[in-house]
Amino acid sequence: ENGAHVPVLVIGTGYGGSVAALRLAQAGIDVHMIEMGMAWDAPGADGKIFANTTNPDGRSYWLRTKTEQPLSNFLGFPIDRDIPRYTGILDAENFSGITVYQGRGVGGGSLVNGGMAVTPKRENFGTVLPSVNADEMYGTYYPRANAGLGVNNVDLAWWETTDCYQYARVGRKHAQRSGFPFVFVPNVYDFEYMKREAAGTVPKSSLAGEILYGNNFAKKSLQKTYIAQAKATGRVAISPLHKVTSVAPAAGGRYTVAIDQINTSGDTTATKTVTADRVFFAAGSVGTSKLLVKLKATGALPGLNAEIGKGWGDNGNVMCGRANHLWDPTGSLQASMPTAGIDNWTAGGAFAEVAPLPTGIETFASFYLSITRNPNRAAFSWNAGTGKVDLSWQTAWKQPSINAAKTIFDKINAKEGTIYRTDLFGVYKIWGDHLTYHPLGGAVLNKATDNHGRLHGHPGLYVIDGSLIPGNTTVNPFVTITALAERNIEKIIATDL
Ligand code: FDA
Repeated sequence: ENGAHVPVLVIGTGYGGSVAALRLAQAGIDVHMIEMGMAWDAPGADGKIFANTTNPDGRSYWLRTKTEQPLSNFLGFPIDRDIPRYTGILDAENFSGITVYQGRGVGGGSLVNGGMAVTPKRENFGTVLPSVNADEMYGTYYPRANAGLGVNNVDLAWWETTDCYQYARVGRKHAQRSGFPFVFVPNVYDFEYMKREAAGTVPKSSLAGEILYGNNFAKKSLQKTYIAQAKATGRVAISPLHKVTSVAPAAGGRYTVAIDQINTSGDTTATKTVTADRVFFAAGSVGTSKLLVKLKATGALPGLNAEIGKGWGDNGNVMCGRANHLWDPTGSLQASMPTAGIDNWTAGGAFAEVAPLPTGIETFASFYLSITRNPNRAAFSWNAGTGKVDLSWQTAWKQPSINAAKTIFDKINAKEGTIYRTDLFGVYKIWGDHLTYHPLGGAVLNKATDNHGRLHGHPGLYVIDGSLIPGNTTVNPFVTITALAERNIEKIIATDL
């Protein structure tokens, strides 16, 4: 409510925000979470909360009148279509050199992601978070995060025979024939439910291609894990369709937080101001960076240091498809939840997720999202002319990622006598190098903040999301974001509250 005071305000309801809310509430502290997206707790006209990937509608995109699908073309034809403008679930946020995909709604990225719950290899951790004690992370916080997220593994005997992972078995065959390690990865999708989907005894979600615009069943999004637990404490309130626009010091060491309430067309219907003793920035790498860069540049938070907005990376994301021979079909039924990857990190700087292409028809395509070692880092900056925050990333900066991915796929293509698909990202375009699913950095740990996420210059302000991580996690990021948040909040509760 306008004019209210709260002990702790959390901006955003993704991984970092949900961990903070749960642990603070368990410590007896009342928390108010502010989320710009919708609650995603009520069915639409078709009886379902979330739209299907193959049939996007207004629910699918954040305030766009046309879809912006990561794979924009198929067999030479553009596949994007007109949709009603609505506060939908997937934001394709366009900066000049990159489109950053993000989840919008209570649960953040957990609503739209592939659920791949990967802990980085221990020997790579020093490059992921150089200032963090690895023993503590691998001994305590990664296990705590995996438990809190409800991570589980696919039953390998079932995986070997089910139609819906034929694409992954083809991926394995090609990886292994070229000598690359093929690794299974855990997921937060309930694989026992998926078995029942395959058996036809429950409503389909993963086997109906649901992923990018939400899963109606069996994916353990944050709504079902951390947020459900946080709400059950009775100490956590959540305001969806509310967007934080400013945080500034107030009397008594408190902060004034300005919030726009919006409707499902994205229009502001009310402007509210509350005060908080402490504020956690958990708006995601892009959301937190945009807020902090603006608040520093406009003088609202003058004490923030020069590291704000810096150290942003795309986790080296690059996509590609390969065209298989007719004797190597990948299957018309593809589980939308990935289970495996090709690990060429040490030799070639690439970890390639064997990704689904759940079109419902046989495509003879193998599809991959590679996470690569890309040294390029961009910065956010305030543009006083437009009143917006810019990002300095350039499309050409993906070249190291393409080179790294080629260490895997050029070799596989040579071995198999196959070629790259050139029809998925445009016409005669091999690489999906225009996007990322994994924005990281912008308020880097131990630089923009201290080694536990306390922002320099303003006691009581914290960062607790993917913006703390300096640009790359060597694998998919949400387990690391969650584990780091578990580490930091434990310290903050013990020493600051
Ligand atoms: P996150 O983005 O989750 O949450 C931030 C929240 O803050 C959002 O809900 C946002 O709406 C809200 N917000 C922003 N600004 C605000 C403001 N001013 N006021 C109020 N609210 C605001 N990772 C992985 O490990 N495995 C995977 O399989 C995948 N797959 C995948 C697929 C796709 C399509 C996407 C887009 C992403 C993935 N990811 C992934 C990435 C993963 O989802 C991502 O890294 C995390 O969600 C980031 O967590 P954070 O807590 O940093 O922010």
